[in-house]
Amino acid sequence: MITVRKTSFRLDTEHTTYLFRKTKYGHLEHIYYGNLLSKEDRAGTLAQKRSIQVGSSVFYDPEDSVYALDSMCLEWADNGRGDYRQSPTEFVMPDGSFVTDFIYESHDVLDGCVPMDTLPTAYGGNQTLKITLKDKAFPIFIDLYYTVFEQTDVITRRAVVRNEANAPLTIRRIMSMTMDLPDECFQMYTLDGGWIKEANLHKRPVTYGITVNSSTTGASSNRHNPAFIIAEADANEDYGDVYAFNMIYSGNHYSIAEKNERDDVRVSMGINPHLFEWIVSPGDKFETPECVMSYSSRGFNGTSHHMHDFINEHIVRGDYKKKDRPVLLNNWEAHFFDFNEGKLLRLAKDAKELGVELFVLDDGWFGDRNNDNAGLGDYTVNPKKLPQGIKVFADKIRKIGLNFGLWFEPEMVNEDSNLYRTHPEYAVKLPNRKAVLGRNQLVLDLCQKEVRDYIVEQVSNILDEADIRYVKWDMNRHIAEVFSSVLQNQGEFYHRYILGLYEVLTRIFVPRPHILLESCSSGGNRFDLGMLVFSPQIWASDDTDPIERLKIQTGLSYFYPQSTMGAHVSASPHQQTLRETPLATRFHAACFGCLGYELDLKYLTPEEKKDIADQITFYKQYRRIFQYGRFYRIRSYKENKVIWEVVSEEKETALTGFFQTLAAAAESSDKLKVIGLKKGRYMIRTRPQRLYIERFGCLTKHVMPVELSPDGMIMRVANRHYSLKDCVETYTCSAEALSSGIPLCEQFIGTGYHEKES
Ligand code: DGJ
Repeated sequence: MITVRKTSFRLDTEHTTYLFRKTKYGHLEHIYYGNLLSKEDRAGTLAQKRSIQVGSSVFYDPEDSVYALDSMCLEWADNGRGDYRQSPTEFVMPDGSFVTDFIYESHDVLDGCVPMDTLPTAYGGNQTLKITLKDKAFPIFIDLYYTVFEQTDVITRRAVVRNEANAPLTIRRIMSMTMDLPDECFQMYTLDGGWIKEANLHKRPVTYGITVNSSTTGASSNRHNPAFIIAEADANEDYGDVYAFNMIYSGNHYSIAEKNERDDVRVSMGINPHLFEWIVSPGDKFETPECVMSYSSRGFNGTSHHMHDFINEHIVRGDYKKKDRPVLLNNWEAHFFDFNEGKLLRLAKDAKELGVELFVLDDGWFGDRNNDNAGLGDYTVNPKKLPQGIKVFADKIRKIGLNFGLWFEPEMVNEDSNLYRTHPEYAVKLPNRKAVLGRNQLVLDLCQKEVRDYIVEQVSNILDEADIRYVKWDMNRHIAEVFSSVLQNQGEFYHRYILGLYEVLTRIFVPRPHILLESCSSGGNRFDLGMLVFSPQIWASDDTDPIERLKIQTGLSYFYPQSTMGAHVSASPHQQTLRETPLATRFHAACFGCLGYELDLKYLTPEEKKDIADQITFYKQYRRIFQYGRFYRIRSYKENKVIWEVVSEEKETALTGFFQTLAAAAESSDKLKVIGLKKGRYMIRTRPQRLYIERFGCLTKHVMPVELSPDGMIMRVANRHYSLKDCVETYTCSAEALSSGIPLCEQFIGTGYHEKES
């Protein structure tokens, strides 16, 4: 609910209040963001007091020696009027100066969300507050939009710049939001990484000066995800003041936490000013991406729940909103580029037998794409691999009883391709320099209309030719040496690229809502809310080693729900780490997301096939909870444990993933703690994992009457057909006992392992 009272603006969600006011000079002063206030609470009581002059300040009004912008908590800020923190804007004003003075002009409370002309927004909000600021010297306006999503405890913010002067306005920096919070010894949490190590959570103190989280690669990036947290020093998963932020944008992003000498922390977020410049002509406007904010005093799990609900309810749209995601088999790690129809059909048949629902043909099906040097851009089927074309192949897959999905990388081109030979001008490169390549490819210039039309036509033709129910939309390099022949001002490139991408995605997928889109960028190089507007799920990482996935999916879980994360079981040892892991561990990590398999099934033993069939049956039984259940990260005091939990909507069923990342000798007993269930008595059952005989190696001689070679034929045959059950435990107890934790049996130690029910 939005309440405007004289000079104050109060935004309430179910559990939070956001409060600011207009000062006597018309600046917007931030007052409070926290737990829901009582109706009687007033801005004046909660505002920071200004009773004494702060030395060495520049005063906004020479007559008013306690009003210094630099020592106030603000909702928006200017350059050059005495506030020395980083301003959300850097404008070259019509007089050539950088000085701005944006003052309250008017406000309006509107129903629902206010969509943008150029960028995607969240939908289904309750109310929007629009505040218009006007520069004191020029008719240049900034409209600040605040939308309240009451049930999910989220508030979004964005800014629109309108130029009504008769000279152009140059924008060098424009943030979507800015807000000053009194410091609580804040820590900043970000998701950082790179290829195959995306979204690792890092924590650092917000100290004096500026702490930055940003991307410059042209995408939201695997280096630094746009989402971040500012939390009080002692916050943990279940307790403490936590502010979470994200942005509905897939390009270069920029966020700061700047602590000043008054111990106020400015948080700003928006498009990255790096290599950015935008000229707003008279009569024109510039829209910034929508930022998403949430507060909880219930720790990180609290804000995660808000963000998860917000994404499931207000970001993901279309036929796949809240819809179960299929169990898929992707052929990439099974074949790479080396496949033919026979190989694919065999894989599909095996997949069907195990319970898979969707077969995805990945890279390599078109043009001369037999390796990653050639073919990108030419989406005509390779007749050597699929002699009867994509339609007939898709029909064959449907006949096997599977839906069919297909891979594209439409934003890219290889120099060795028909597209590049015919249209070299479609690629991003400078006329006077040798182009730099990434994965042997160039980026297509989505600023050009012809390029966008080409992509829409190529992809749409294939999608309409065959019965395709799923698309994997890949993007495998960072953008570099940006230049577009159609732009006067190259400072617009990065943003125009993203606008072009959103246009292309809208034109292809909005008319085809039956297609489930999974976006991908070498894994999680573009895991963001902008892409989630179009693609309900995103391939989280090319790293399918489950121990690495624990880090990646844990990191993502702070901001994104399980329903958005593509997670696959692949072969072990892993391509990315050479680590060996049990099949059970691989499944147990992947089932807390949108489950898929990505390995050559023909190499599985009969025992492993049984195992996978059971996994898929189990997943289907609890799919709703795995994909949409309430997700908790359970605190563990042991460094070698990661514990995830999902709880059903009715709070009557919980599934816990209890992971051990490293073995430790004769480890102390572990506790199973299950939270979020409603009162009552519960039956606790473990999902026994299978121990394959080969894992025991030479150790078998200690338990067998005869000594067998660990690599001999008998052992190999036994391994194919026999396995031991491990971790078999059942208990009955109350929700209260579960929430404090019940001790589990010891694990394997030198003297044995437990195979019987305890
Ligand atoms: C990168 C993706 O992340 C992989 O899953 C796979 O689709 C390859 N591209 C194909 O080139």
